[in-house]
Amino acid sequence: MKIKNICCIGAGYVGGPTMAVIAQKCPHIKVTVVDINEARIAAWNDKDLSKLPVFEPGLDDIVKGARDRNLFFSTDVDKAIDEAEMIFISVNTPTKTYGKGKGMAADLKYIELCARQIARVSKTDKIVVEKSTLPVRTASAIKSILDNTGNHVQFQILSNPEFLAEGTAVPDLLNPDRVLIGGDTTPEGAIAVNALVEVYENWVPRAQILTTNVWSSELSKLTANAFLAQRVSSINAMSELCEKTGADVDEVAKAIGMDSRIGPKFLKASVGFGGSCFQKDILNLVYIAKSYGLDKVADYWEQVIIMNNHQKQRFSDNIVNTLYNTVSGKKITFLGWAFKKDTNDTRESAAINVADNLLSEQAEISVYDPKVVAERIYADLDYLNTRTEEENKRLLKVSKDPYQACNQSHAIAVLTEWDEFTTYDWERIYKNMKKPAFVFDGRGILDQETLENIGFVYYKIGSGVE
Ligand code: UDX
Ligand code: UDX
Repeated sequence: MKIKNICCIGAGYVGGPTMAVIAQKCPHIKVTVVDINEARIAAWNDKDLSKLPVFEPGLDDIVKGARDRNLFFSTDVDKAIDEAEMIFISVNTPTKTYGKGKGMAADLKYIELCARQIARVSKTDKIVVEKSTLPVRTASAIKSILDNTGNHVQFQILSNPEFLAEGTAVPDLLNPDRVLIGGDTTPEGAIAVNALVEVYENWVPRAQILTTNVWSSELSKLTANAFLAQRVSSINAMSELCEKTGADVDEVAKAIGMDSRIGPKFLKASVGFGGSCFQKDILNLVYIAKSYGLDKVADYWEQVIIMNNHQKQRFSDNIVNTLYNTVSGKKITFLGWAFKKDTNDTRESAAINVADNLLSEQAEISVYDPKVVAERIYADLDYLNTRTEEENKRLLKVSKDPYQACNQSHAIAVLTEWDEFTTYDWERIYKNMKKPAFVFDGRGILDQETLENIGFVYYKIGSGVE
């Protein structure tokens, strides 16, 4: 079965870049990305490519090449569903904020809405691909909705989880370690799986395209994110011990990473992991394990989240303790707000909690991030509901210039590992700060010796006094 039309519901961080790359690599396929959010679609269609709603290095060029050729962004969801033989569901699946499973389970209401819409509109057979990360066995819920409310057309459900990381979405999509496709083990299932394999084969070697049953595919995605997050929490746990013992966590990471069984990646100690996936997926895993009565399994994975929360808390505690036990009325500068470098995404960013803790201690915060806009920063804080919007606006200022952000400040906290932070004129920054001038490097990116020679009191996560 040859696919000629693809529809993707959800023009977010996953749907947008993934479809742009499919369109670039498959000029013979018409790819339409739809979203209910009109402003987002308008931004994807903006002539000014710097206005794309998702910032990813290299994405603008790909969109430029494919847009209006075989890549389209639209709010006409029905039309795109009707035309397509293959429909990707790439809507968000936030943690539930109400009812059973509140704070843990994934909220599948958008997925269900999509399934109902697909069922209502479809007049021809469709392959429905789950791109969103979903709890195991979601495919059977989607199938039941499609089969029971549809117009008696045939639906095949595939799971094709996304492994791209933000900030490197384009290279991750162009050269994936593997592509995972789960489908039914029936002959019809195999045909559907093969149709998607053929799409990816346009640029991914066949040996790297893995096919499994649907449940293995769904669970593999949660497992991959849980393992990755666990590595970060493991090295962060060691970072606290390093600070007490005089070890340096980067040296420890290097030493263990050279063991080929451990490997060097994902061992960078930090102020805590963020992003839309890690916490949500682990909470989801914990919830699923509990729902099967597997309490020990649930507790094991929950510890990864507990450690991450602790890491954020102890970072802000350390700032307060070091600044003579009070930050009230003191200006503290945040370099970075995004959850990692090279993205404008701030979901679950450690910066949000660290700021919230310090604001509760009456600090005055000044934020500079090269890609995150002020509205986003205030929205992140307001969402926590710790204080009024007016108070957040009064206590936290967003600056477009890093030097201005650091001016007259008591301490600088590095929350995101943006490369540009390492290239600043730190002498100039030092001169304009209150003394002693403190730097709390939550990402371990600045050069300790240089900063100390200038006169800074430098604190790096995971580095203790010898
Ligand atoms: C993705 C995945 O889909 C999610 O499962 C994963 O865990 C995180 O990454 P992402 O692309 O980052 O989500 O989400 P987001 O940027 O919020 O985009 C989702 C889009 O879907 C939004 O633009 C939203 O407007 C749209 N949407 C949502 C619809 O078009 N229809 C709906 O019914 C719901
Ligand atoms: C993650 C997975 O990597 C990706 O495969 C999946 O599809 C989505 O979830 P993402 O959240 O975009 O991707 O970014 P990632 O690079 O995994 O970073 C997550 C968080 O962990 C960031 O806050 C990052 O700063 C932090 N991190 C990562 C560390 O603190 N140390 C590390 O060594 C690696």
